[in-house]
Amino acid sequence: MSGVKKLRTDLNRSTNVVYQAHHVSRTKRGQIVGTRGGFRGCTIWLTGLSGAGKTTISFALEEFLVSHAIPCYSLDGDNIRQGLNKNLGFSAVDREENIRRIAEVARLFADAGLVCVTSFISPFSKDREEARKIHASAGLPFFEVFIHASLEVCESRDVKGLYKKARAGEIKGFTGIDSDYERPDAPDLVLKTGELSENECLHQVLELLREQNIVPSEIMEGVNELFVTENKLNLAVADAKTLPTISITKLDLQWVQVLSEGWASPLKGFMREREFLQVLHFGNLLDGGAINMSVPIVLPVSGEVKQKLDGCAAVALEFQGSRVAILRNPEFYQHRKEERCARQWGTTCPQHPYIKMVMEGGNWLVGGDLEVLERIKWNDGLDQYRLTPQELKQKFKDIKAGLKNSEFLNRKTTVTIRRHTMASNVHAEFEFISGTKMRNMARSGENPPDGFMAPKAWKVLVEYYTSLQKDK
Ligand SMILES: Nc1ncnc2c1ncn2[C@@H]1O[C@H](COP(=O)(O)OP(=O)(O)OP(=O)(O)O)[C@@H](O)[C@H]1O
Ligand SMILES: [Mg+2]
Repeated sequence: MSGVKKLRTDLNRSTNVVYQAHHVSRTKRGQIVGTRGGFRGCTIWLTGLSGAGKTTISFALEEFLVSHAIPCYSLDGDNIRQGLNKNLGFSAVDREENIRRIAEVARLFADAGLVCVTSFISPFSKDREEARKIHASAGLPFFEVFIHASLEVCESRDVKGLYKKARAGEIKGFTGIDSDYERPDAPDLVLKTGELSENECLHQVLELLREQNIVPSEIMEGVNELFVTENKLNLAVADAKTLPTISITKLDLQWVQVLSEGWASPLKGFMREREFLQVLHFGNLLDGGAINMSVPIVLPVSGEVKQKLDGCAAVALEFQGSRVAILRNPEFYQHRKEERCARQWGTTCPQHPYIKMVMEGGNWLVGGDLEVLERIKWNDGLDQYRLTPQELKQKFKDIKAGLKNSEFLNRKTTVTIRRHTMASNVHAEFEFISGTKMRNMARSGENPPDGFMAPKAWKVLVEYYTSLQKDK
């Protein structure tokens, strides 16, 4: 084929070229690419039959990593063939050139500090080996992932209707039908997409990336409940009875609830000093990657309590006479009240109600790992609506709320969704009231639906907005 010949000549055309070294190192690049810091550039090369699931996994991985602040880009077979490689067909030579270009582009993306995921059938071992070499010579990690589903499975899926056409002879040289697919001899990972769910496959790739220190482990952890498991409960309750206690307030107990249900994952309990200072000064937990958290979740205690309990291996937290949790390996540290208030509210004005509370609280804080003995209940008739993130996830699955990625609900979305679920539990039909709608109702004296706001609070709102109108 004349086109093929031309291509080969073209490839040999570049002579007298000298590689020009960049001034920017990978370490330096890693500091500014993305918000988590650290160079994570690498290529994950997905290979497998058409319909095996390369695009599905690649896009899911891209979505997951990007939503966890890890820069990632998917190079997809069909998309690249519409642009960069649109002058290439499916002959063996064109396939080889197709893969060579992809490998070079992937290397550039990886070099730029992105996790680059490629989803191409890439049927020939030699071409994939070449892609690996291109990365190895650039000192970049390269992972070959075999997306493994039998031809029967792929053909039964026939996502694009291509197998049907190939069987009918309308497409020549179709991989698996009249063109070979050479299975990888030693892939870094095999994903059996005919047997596992998309989600399970995604987790396996993430596990590989975690092992290779490309992604930090805490992004895998998801929601972390701090309840004692049922089989250890009797032991823990007995243990709690023998421990010295710290008496906690209602507010502290509310934080125990937040922590125990997993709303503040990855925290394992009340903040230790290192976490407290990170949150105060950077609005993030910083160990193992930045995790957005700007509110200190701390337990204040008096100097007396500190003196009595400093050095204990564990203490029990007691609320109104009952022991609700164990705090293991407690760490006592100074409650830097002014610093806390100044950082959080930009003022230390003692009239601010929360600042007043902080100032009146203990001069010490105690952090540690929480083991919570049972669900925190308030017996106000609303406990049944206070679902944990795990329960919400299950609920969304059950009601098929159509939430994409409900497997990976993060803290931010869960808080918003929690309010919505509570509302949808109460009302058969969910009514959305935006801020604008609410203000309009308040101005016009219209009442919101029952349960939207405490009547007393609504009255305050109405008075405020009507007073604004009068001022005008
Ligand atoms: N565990 C799984 N992983 C990925 N896909 C799966 C899995 N289980 C079922 N599927 C389904 O298999 C199909 C895979 O199609 P997809 O387009 O991802 O294949 P592909 O390998 O990119 O094919 P092509 O080479 O033609 O682009 C999708 O419909 C997907 O929902
Ligand atoms: Mg695809």
